[in-house]
Formats: sequence, C-alpha cells, structure tokens
Amino acid sequence: MNQHGLTEGFYRLTQKERLERVGQICDLTEEELNILSGRKPLAPEIAENLIENVVGYFPIPLGVATNFTIDGRDLLIPMAVEETSIIAAASATAKWVRNEGSINTYTKGNLIIGQVQFPFVKNVAHARKELHKNRDLLIALANTCLPGLVARGGGVRDIAIREIPRPDSDGTMLVLHLLCDPCDAMGANLINQVCEALKPRVESLTGEKVGLCILSNLVDGKLAAAEVVVRNVDPVIGKGIEEATLFAQADPYRAATHNKGVLNGIDPILIATGNDWRAIEAGAHAYAARKGQYQPLTHWKMEGSDLIGRIELPMAVGIVGGVTQVHPTARVALKMMKIERSEDLARICAAAGLIQNLGALKALATVGIVKGHMQLHAANLAIAAGAEIHEVARLEEPLRLWVSLTYLICRVLDTVEDAPWPLNSNLKNVQFESFLRFLKSSGTPADISSWTTAFPAGITTGERLLLADSQMIFADLHSLPSEVREAICETAERMQLGMNYFSEMKLHSLVEVNQYCYFVAGIVGELLTRLVALNYKDYKLNEEVFSGSLHFGLFLQKVNLLKDQATDEKEGRFLVPNRRLVWNSALRNAWHAFEYLKSIPKSARGYRVFCAWSFFLGLYSLPFIKEAEETHSLGKVPRELMWPLLKTIEDKVLENDALTVIFEEALAECQLSDDGLGRPQDSDSLQGGSDWFIEMANAPVAHSSLSHLRLI
Ligand code: MEV
Repeated sequence: MNQHGLTEGFYRLTQKERLERVGQICDLTEEELNILSGRKPLAPEIAENLIENVVGYFPIPLGVATNFTIDGRDLLIPMAVEETSIIAAASATAKWVRNEGSINTYTKGNLIIGQVQFPFVKNVAHARKELHKNRDLLIALANTCLPGLVARGGGVRDIAIREIPRPDSDGTMLVLHLLCDPCDAMGANLINQVCEALKPRVESLTGEKVGLCILSNLVDGKLAAAEVVVRNVDPVIGKGIEEATLFAQADPYRAATHNKGVLNGIDPILIATGNDWRAIEAGAHAYAARKGQYQPLTHWKMEGSDLIGRIELPMAVGIVGGVTQVHPTARVALKMMKIERSEDLARICAAAGLIQNLGALKALATVGIVKGHMQLHAANLAIAAGAEIHEVARLEEPLRLWVSLTYLICRVLDTVEDAPWPLNSNLKNVQFESFLRFLKSSGTPADISSWTTAFPAGITTGERLLLADSQMIFADLHSLPSEVREAICETAERMQLGMNYFSEMKLHSLVEVNQYCYFVAGIVGELLTRLVALNYKDYKLNEEVFSGSLHFGLFLQKVNLLKDQATDEKEGRFLVPNRRLVWNSALRNAWHAFEYLKSIPKSARGYRVFCAWSFFLGLYSLPFIKEAEETHSLGKVPRELMWPLLKTIEDKVLENDALTVIFEEALAECQLSDDGLGRPQDSDSLQGGSDWFIEMANAPVAHSSLSHLRLI
C-alpha cells in the first residue's frame, strides 16, 4: 500500500495505530517512535542546556498532517500545535489539492543578513567610501571568524550599505549589511558573532562609532515560495477565495488575520523541528509590510476554472545547530520529512502555509470558519450539515462514522430534492438516478464532478460546499462494510421515493403528517437501530423496538414541524394541518420513543446518550415552542438550561428509573390544557391488524403507491 493508502482515514485510527503507520511510512525505529509518542521522556539536561531557570517541560500535542504531495513527493508533516482543527484543515485541504491539482515550491537566495549600525554619522560620504573600498577585506575578515561554515561551503559573500534618515531628524544612520550563506544552519549565532567581531575594524576604517550589531529577521535574501493549482474549482468557492485575497490586500486588519492563518501552517512545523518560530514570524510580518502597507502573504486568483495561489516569504530555517540538533523530537521530525537540506524544510513550510491559508479561506468564503473547521471528516461534516455536534460526538466509532455518513447522504438527497430545477425539465430525476447509482457503486471523480456541476446556480453556498465534498462522502460510504452500506442505501432510496411523493408540500391530515414524518425521519430511526444492532450484538431487535424507533423519528420531526410552522408557512410549506392534533400525536410518539430509549442496551452507552439528548431536548423545547407562539421568540431551550440538562441526562443515561422521572416531569410541562398527556393506546403498537403503522400506511396513499413506497 502506498503512503496515502496508509494514511487514508488516519484520524479514525487510535493514537497507537497512527504511530505505527508513521513508523512504517517514515521508516522510524522503535526508539524514534518512543521519542515521538513521548513514551521516552526528554532528559532534564536537554532543557538545562537550552534555557535558564528550568523547572520542567511544557508539552504540547504533536500531530501529523497527511495527504501532502509537494513537488511530486508524498510526505507526512509533523506539527506541534495546541490549536484545534489546524492539522485536520491542512490534511483535508492537502487532499483536495492532491486530487485536483498540485503544489510546487522553490527558494530564492540563501543569504541571511547581519547589521552593523552607525547611529550618528558625522561624514556619510567618507564612511560609505571606506566601507566600499574595503569590501573584500571585510568579507575576508568576517570569514576568518567562521572557519567551520566556510569549510562547509558557506560564509559571508557580500556587503551592502544603507543610509537611513534618523526618525528624530538628527542626521543620518548608516547600516552595514553582511550577507552570509549559513548553509543548513539558521545562522543567527554565526552572524551575530561576525557583526560583533567586525565592529572595531569598521570603526577604525570609517572613524564612526558603531551602535548595534545583530542579525535582521527580515531575511529577504532567503525566500521560500510555493504555488498551488487546483483544477475544476466551483466558481462560487473560487470567487469567494479570490474575494478574500482582495479584502486582505485592502485592509491591514484583515491581512493580519489572513497571515495568522498562513502561519498556522508554518509555526507548528517550526516548533516540531526546533526552529525559532518567532524569528520566522517577525520576518513574515515585516516582509508583508515591506511596501508600506501591511499585505497578505498569499494571493489567490481564478484562471478559467483553475484556482491559483502563491506565497513568498523569508524562511531562515535550519536543520543543523541549535535546538534542531539537541532536541530528539526535532531530529525525528526532520527524519519523518526526509529533510536533507534546510532548503527542503523551507519549501515544505511555504507549501504548508499556503495550504493552511487555502483551507481557512475556503471555509470562510463558504460556510464560515466554525462550521468549516468542523467540515473535516465525516462526523464533522455531518455536524456542519445540521447534525447536532454534541450528539454525534457521543457515538462510539464506527457508529459515529456510519451515522455521520447517513446524515450526509440525507443532506445530499435533500439538496437534490430542494434545488430550484428548471420547470418541465427531467433534470431532477436524472440527478436522483445518478445519486442512487453513486450510492450503489461509487462513480468516477469525473462522473461525480459533472454531476455536481449540473446543479442549478440557485442552491445555497452550504449546499454547494456539501456537493463539493460529495466525492469524499461517496468514497467513505463505499469503504463501509457491505451490510452497513446496503442499509444506508436502502434507506436513502426509500426516503427519496417518499420525498418525491410528498413534494407538494401541503399535508392535509394527521395521517399524512405521520406518513411525511415517517419518510423524512422515521425510517432514519429504523436505520440507526439496524446500524446499532450491527455494532452491538446484544441488541435484541423485535417489532417493538422497530416500532419505537419509528416513533422516535416521528416525535423529533413533529417537534421541528411545530417549531418551524410559522416560517414554513411563510415559505409556502403547509405541514401542520391542525396544530393541536399534531401536538398531541407528538406526545403519543414521545411515549413510544421513550420505551425505545430504554430498550437500548447499556453496552451501547454512546448511542443511548445520542438518543437521550435529542429526545429530551425535543421534549424540553415543547413548552418553549408553546411560549414562542405568544412571544414570537425562538422556541428553543435556552443555553443556560440546556447544558445542565444534557449533563444530568448523560449522568443518568444508564438508569431507566431515573430517566423515567425526568421524562414524566418534562411531559407534564408539555400538556396543551385538558388534552391529557397523550398516553399511548394499544392500537399504537405494531402488533395486531389495526395498528398505528398500518393505519398510517393505508390512507390516503393509493395501493399502487404504497407498494411503490415499499410500505407494503
Ligand atoms: C484561525 O486560527 C485562523 C483564521 O482566522 C485565518 C483566517 O481568517 O484566514 C481562520
């Protein structure tokens, strides 16, 4: 298996498995893996030799960005960073670019700068002349201080003299620049030594007094650059990214954040390799401001359907000397990337900065950074697509992935259903058929890409982004065990049939409401039950359980219908023919849904929490929905009540008796006056001839439609 095969679904592996894969891909020894994982602690002497007044170490997480192919070479990038989503965004964006384009890098120059300053110059012309005249002498003298570097092929190559008016208007400063090739070192210590060593000689040559002798971090003689090309970019996304560049060009307030996003990709590599990230930060910002106004470090432009991005910034990194050499983790990090020259590291940093920036801009230009950050793998994608973050997060793998993919498939289905297709065209059906085909046997990237471009322009940006990820979604779906995939596909197909049937958007009776809710939510409850049972073998399925799962979906969907009734009707969707009837039927569904909740095996704790949270949130929101009718508020459980509620439920999730107390108390608040609490009736059960399900299924759908809908 190649590297990308080994890192496919990397985020889903355990830490131990990831480490094993890294070892395999990067050819690391057991000792090196122990260093990376922290199993081999750092010796206290290392810290003592680096800084003063040491009391210990401050560990930060070390992760690995995957999917990078830079200059045609696949590599894993170690990143030491505490900020969430950076590594996930880098990996997801690198995957996009790998699939649809390329990253190429180069460097410009290898000269760092040392400054020898003359703060108050009495005779500028004389000082300049003397320094110029003695150029060769100064270079030779400087190089005698650097025998090791010269032996390795480096050393001071040139000088430059700069005249700068003093800001206090008290004459002119002169600055002598020593331009030095540090080879593979960062070179800060070397160049500082040289500047200080030259001080007496330049003072005697010029007759002027020297002030500061120190390197400059604005290393514009040693630049790293990268170019990214992404083909077939959705024009809406491409335009959004282009716009983001313009904003940063126009406004330093934005440019600062834009560049912070670039450095999000660079600093973690610098830290992991023991480089001086403050120096690179300083250089990057100064370079960004070199033309007078602070500018973005990257530029993005659409050329036809290609998105082209470029970055260029000073990159004085080293792979020998200093921390890079003495810190064992830094050594392993360099080995992971197979770095042989400092230039290799500089290029990787430039590429990672550009990719990180692309990821941030793509998210910002579309769903916004909060959702965008989350859109990084299926679970997070599902959350962005509307699933509740706290609920999905509670599921144990592989259920989390299965459920997330189910959400995503349903969202894609919704997108096909709701898109503003041209009237009298068959396009919607054609798109549905292709969708079902992709579910059954994942299409080629070209097929999926032409399918996504066939959607009309009027879909929302969120939907467009979802479609842009559909290739990944279908691919993930096809990596699932066949029984899981079949269950998801079968549900999606039935859902599509039902959605098509109810596309008229006006429901006339409670039976129709039940049918509608069955197709958009009930069958999802049924599917989840099947998926959970595949994962938890002690889950004993029977008709009661399936019936409960349908009620569960119906309950949640009806709460939504009640909450959104006013907005829906404003937009022409009439889904609540009689509010009181729907309300009371929702309470009847709640009783069965609660039985379902209690039937979930305790071994499936994550799924219990997942169901309990959505169930109780639905139930608790009913009184607020009632209140909202009068006050025109949001009809949602306020945050300050929600978190304690979720906590209590999670604590008690395995205790059916305790949950019953919570349930009955909550239900008492949901009564509509004298209607009772919607206690279930015998006919609600799935058994017997006149049960709820058959009643729902019987009318008013015609017999032929029923079999078409697979209700009979
Ligand atoms: C957050 O760490 C970085 C971003 O703010 C960068 C940007 O706005 O481009 C998302």
